[in-house]
Amino acid sequence: MSLVTSQRVLSGMRPTGQLHLGHYHGVLKNWIKLQYEYRCFFFAADWHALTTQYDDVSMIASNVWDMLIDWLSVGVNPSEATIFIQSKVPEHAELHLLLSMSTPLSWLERVPTYKDQQQKLKDKDLSTYGFLGYPLLQSADILVYKAGLVPVGEDQVAHIEITRELARRFNFLYGREPDFQEKAKEAIRKMGKKNANLYNELRKRYQEQGDAEALSTAQVLVNAQQNISLGDKKRLLGFLEGETRTILPEPEALLTETSKMPGLDGQKMSKSYGNTITLRDTPVNVEQKVRTMPTDPARIRRTDAGEPEKCPVWQLHKIYSPEDVKAWVQEGCRSATIGCIECKQPVIEGIKAELTPIQEKCRRYQESPETVRAIMSEGCEKARAVARETLEEVRQVMGLSYR
Ligand code: TRP
Ligand code: SF4
Repeated sequence: MSLVTSQRVLSGMRPTGQLHLGHYHGVLKNWIKLQYEYRCFFFAADWHALTTQYDDVSMIASNVWDMLIDWLSVGVNPSEATIFIQSKVPEHAELHLLLSMSTPLSWLERVPTYKDQQQKLKDKDLSTYGFLGYPLLQSADILVYKAGLVPVGEDQVAHIEITRELARRFNFLYGREPDFQEKAKEAIRKMGKKNANLYNELRKRYQEQGDAEALSTAQVLVNAQQNISLGDKKRLLGFLEGETRTILPEPEALLTETSKMPGLDGQKMSKSYGNTITLRDTPVNVEQKVRTMPTDPARIRRTDAGEPEKCPVWQLHKIYSPEDVKAWVQEGCRSATIGCIECKQPVIEGIKAELTPIQEKCRRYQESPETVRAIMSEGCEKARAVARETLEEVRQVMGLSYR
């Protein structure tokens, strides 16, 4: 991975409407942390939604707005991260098209999510061109920003892997210059004698011994050069690893820990399981949902002892309760000295306390749709500026610059 771009982080989310606590604890808190550490790009993947929802588009726009408002309400910060809508940056589509020219069908067909999703969503006809191209579109999303890190869950790792393969193929096809070696050697000379020797030494160590540290030291060295052109820098970075210029760098997956947030029934919290607490559930809703949660099935009567490990409510205590309350649950449940209703109360309070400030912000954004629109159009512009630069370069190496 080239250090030129390793600081760029990109991730997308399909607009499924209002978000729930699983999204918050699993994905968004991670984004909020990353936005202060890297240059982040977060977007609503509305075209990806179309790959499975092409037959009913009525909810797409409202789902996008709801999702974006939820992001803002939990603290995804538009002055730290660039937040935008995929279809507002048509460069994603252009890169998708250009990459499609050299993408073998077999690569797409063997991505596991392709067959899995077709199986899972049996009632939909997903034998479409667009759906087969889902991972290709995702690759374009990533490569158009030359993102170095892509925070995703386990289920998306195959999509990052195909992105890496596509980038490699692209660089191989279009990153070769007839006189690359000569130009690279010329660029090495331009660094001055001392740096040139160091570069050659590090390159040799990497190429002959696979010394990854030598590679990253050399990348730092190249990036620190003040008096050589960007083109030469790219040659020098490319020459470290092979004979091609790196036009589209290979991204890495930044695995998001699977959310510790269980659903109301103890399974993973997910809209399709109907076991969610959404970020917009009212206090009354929250109370009612937690009150009706199943508990340890062994506690039929109030006097029956229970085992917290067998109870989904305990999983929520682990997230929301301080140590003394947790001890109270452990002890009280096993000795049947507390009832389940009583036990659930601190969880209810914890969730309500977490949601209050989020909902406060949410209301303000809902009352001011023009603020949200303005944040988005600014984000889309910022994203486009970066995407345009990549496309300039891509068109040029593909012989489409017409100048
Ligand atoms: N496929 C991703 C998901 O379902 C969403 C997505 C689209 C994405 N484009 C992306 C994620 C680019 C990371 C990077 O979760
Ligand atoms: Fe679950 Fe609490 Fe009831 Fe024990 S007391 S079964 S932990 S809800």
